[in-house]
Amino acid sequence: MSRILSGIRPSGELHLGNYLGAIKQWIDLQHDHETYFMVADLHAITTSFDPKTLPDDIQNVILDYLAAGLDPETATLFVQSQNPVHSELMWLLNTITPVGELQRMVQFKEKSAANKESNNAGILNYPILMAADILAYKAEKVPVGDDQGQHVELARDLAKKFNRLFGQTFPEPQAIHGLGRRIMDLTNPEQKMSKSMAGGIGLNDSEEEINKKLQKAVTGAEPGMIRQAKNMAEAAEKGAHMEWARDANLQKQAHGVRNLFTILFALGEKPEIEKWKMAAEEGKLQFSEFKPALAKIIADHFAPFREKRAKFLKKPKVVAEIIADGNKKARHEAEKTLAEAQQKMGLR
Ligand code: AQP
Repeated sequence: MSRILSGIRPSGELHLGNYLGAIKQWIDLQHDHETYFMVADLHAITTSFDPKTLPDDIQNVILDYLAAGLDPETATLFVQSQNPVHSELMWLLNTITPVGELQRMVQFKEKSAANKESNNAGILNYPILMAADILAYKAEKVPVGDDQGQHVELARDLAKKFNRLFGQTFPEPQAIHGLGRRIMDLTNPEQKMSKSMAGGIGLNDSEEEINKKLQKAVTGAEPGMIRQAKNMAEAAEKGAHMEWARDANLQKQAHGVRNLFTILFALGEKPEIEKWKMAAEEGKLQFSEFKPALAKIIADHFAPFREKRAKFLKKPKVVAEIIADGNKKARHEAEKTLAEAQQKMGLR
């Protein structure tokens, strides 16, 4: 059984992008892979955070994992900081990472620009820690959203380099993406949905809240654009259609429409999908009807999530045991890898 590792930063309430880009894939993969899913708290402290609320933020991510359907009987759920191997292996990998590679990472450029006052080496070195997260478990597949693809590439390069320099140790990990690999912000659809932006849909949002947010989602009325945006969502195509480049506003609207169709395709049942596809095809799509229908599809999908979360919330002991078991298992596996890497490097 091949191994999988992924994680989410406890940097705020999880949103539809985190779910469709990451968690939904994890749920599909957990039964026929050996899976490790962590709360990436060491990554969260690279950007602004509150030490007082961090413990609750960590706990909330675990609750979200359980509520979404990750099964602790099968998947190992753990907290990154509770396993010192990640930081130790990171140091070893540090010594074979070219600084230039880190400086050209898109997320480094974006995050360091956004955190000018609190810019720190952690933002630069983040991908080495991520490589250590992955390689500590000898993971072969890493289910993530589009934005993390470049970091997984680096982990792959570091695995290759380590193997070349010190002997075969790590498999070469590969990113895998689902249909929702890049969910866009509703009000600013040229940027990805993210915890720190206003145009996101939270996993705990009610149908009413989702509907309110969707009402504000950027869309447009031109039937040709709507049809094309629907086609691009269906083909999971990236980029913008050439025709839209003539008009920045139209391009923004097209990204917004494509985003709503991507969400529909990921969460809707076949008859609903067919209905809205046909409306777009025939030039009859009314957003005044489509948006509330999509709000219901999203809210219905997350109804079991909300119920399950409320149940786990009442069982803090059970949740604490799940975390303790996961931490123990993760540490045990990672320690074996660290010892092997140290031995290959002549450190033991
Ligand atoms: N918009 C997105 N579409 C698809 N996948 C996404 N992911 C994040 N945003 C989207 C994927 O979710 C996983 C966890 O992401 P993270 O929390 O570790 O990364 P992040 O980029 O810090 O998340 P945010 O939401 O953008 O938070 P802030 O605002 O704090 O920076 C990853 O697999 C990621 O690809």
